[in-house]
Amino acid sequence: MAKKLHIKTYGCQMNVYDSERMADVLAPLGYELSDRPDDADMVILNTCHIREKAAEKVYSDLGRIRRFKTQKEKSGEKMILAVAGCVAQAEGEEVFARAPYVDMVFGPQTYHRLPEMIAKATRSSGDVLEIDFPVDEKFDSLPVSNSKGLRSAFLTIQEGCDKFCTFCVVPYTRGAEFSRPAQDVLTEAKRLVDDGVYEITLLGQNVNCYHGAGLNGSDWGLGRLIQELAEIDGLSRIRYTTSYPADVDDELIAAHRDIPALMPFLHLPVQAGSDRILQAMNRRHTSSGYQALIDKLRQVRPDLAFSSDFIVGFPGETEDDFKQTLQLVQDVQFAQAYSFKYSPRPGTPAADYDNQIDEDIKSERLVRLQELLSAQQRTFNESLVGSTVPVLLDRHGREQGQLVGRSPYMQAVHIQDSETLFGSIVDVHIQAGYAYSLQGELAVNTMNAERVNA
Ligand code: 5AD
Ligand code: SF4
Repeated sequence: MAKKLHIKTYGCQMNVYDSERMADVLAPLGYELSDRPDDADMVILNTCHIREKAAEKVYSDLGRIRRFKTQKEKSGEKMILAVAGCVAQAEGEEVFARAPYVDMVFGPQTYHRLPEMIAKATRSSGDVLEIDFPVDEKFDSLPVSNSKGLRSAFLTIQEGCDKFCTFCVVPYTRGAEFSRPAQDVLTEAKRLVDDGVYEITLLGQNVNCYHGAGLNGSDWGLGRLIQELAEIDGLSRIRYTTSYPADVDDELIAAHRDIPALMPFLHLPVQAGSDRILQAMNRRHTSSGYQALIDKLRQVRPDLAFSSDFIVGFPGETEDDFKQTLQLVQDVQFAQAYSFKYSPRPGTPAADYDNQIDEDIKSERLVRLQELLSAQQRTFNESLVGSTVPVLLDRHGREQGQLVGRSPYMQAVHIQDSETLFGSIVDVHIQAGYAYSLQGELAVNTMNAERVNA
């Protein structure tokens, strides 16, 4: 059912324009404009500071609307009351001090973050946010969280996101961050291992924000959870995805140092290399902060390979900003990556920015970025030629007698060998590295003798 939005606009033409934009950004959350404040679900006073006594007028209007709000609350309904515009900017906290029943105060620079503010206010009151977004599977899906195969399984430990990157629908479609209690995760992991699983990939939209109830009453972070999982006999490989760079903590870094079962491959989306763009995306890392994190991780685990997500053509991205993305890629050297053209998702703040980039420019930048990333992926694959890596053989290849598995670095490895090795982890000597895969043969000295878990 549509929710009613009443906006009272004071002052100049600029404010009239802003009020229209507010109505636009709130439409996907189900708000329709109404000219009545008394039964509205949300009232915004979009204020102006120019004339003397402007603030006094706002406070007296607030007093009147408060009565409607109280009335609604008595009948079990709610009203979100917000003060926007120049008075909000100038008075800030003072508004809450004088009118504590006001729910939100925001200045002209932040009206595009209204969906985020409403989502957060709704969550904190325990209500469910109803949205009317076209959900795009491509940008809003966890890998299917049931078993992915005989020996390798996904295990969802966390859902939802509180980060509100300005391009992303997930915080609205998936709701607030939620972490499963550690005991549930451990029990499920043991069951999977009992069923024959060697490799578990821990899943979450924001998996390293995991903070589940631990066994001793305290909250456990992801590093701690991985430590405990590593104790499970027979669990040879642990992975996790997707991580948020600003939330990689020391405990998680230590897990990469101390736990051999934690695979040396990390998907750590950076999105862009320009700090200006990262800020407009509401990411909480800078380009140099991201690189410092990569360095720290490489220090404790030198063979750690990195993967990332990139968005090109985010609103306002200049050629210079884009070059900073290319530079970051050059500096980090990724083993693999996903890259996307920015696509405005209705209901998200960035969709409403007025400095959108031409499709042609986005396409051209995507090609340039992908060329560089593909070259790095090939270089990484080729760098393994001559080495011996453990491979979990859990798929049949297209050719007769061919088996396919994953290296610790997530590369697909093809070997030609007997069917009896299917489902085991074996040492493979890498003979060739291609754009997307490796080719190898069973390492001679590991035949039968050193097969792990076979
Ligand atoms: N436009 C382009 N890419 C997006 N992603 C998410 N939302 C958008 C969007 N609106 C990408 C991000 C994210 C990945 C899952 O999808 O790079 O990390
Ligand atoms: Fe979306 Fe990931 Fe940002 Fe959350 S952290 S808003 S899921 S891109």
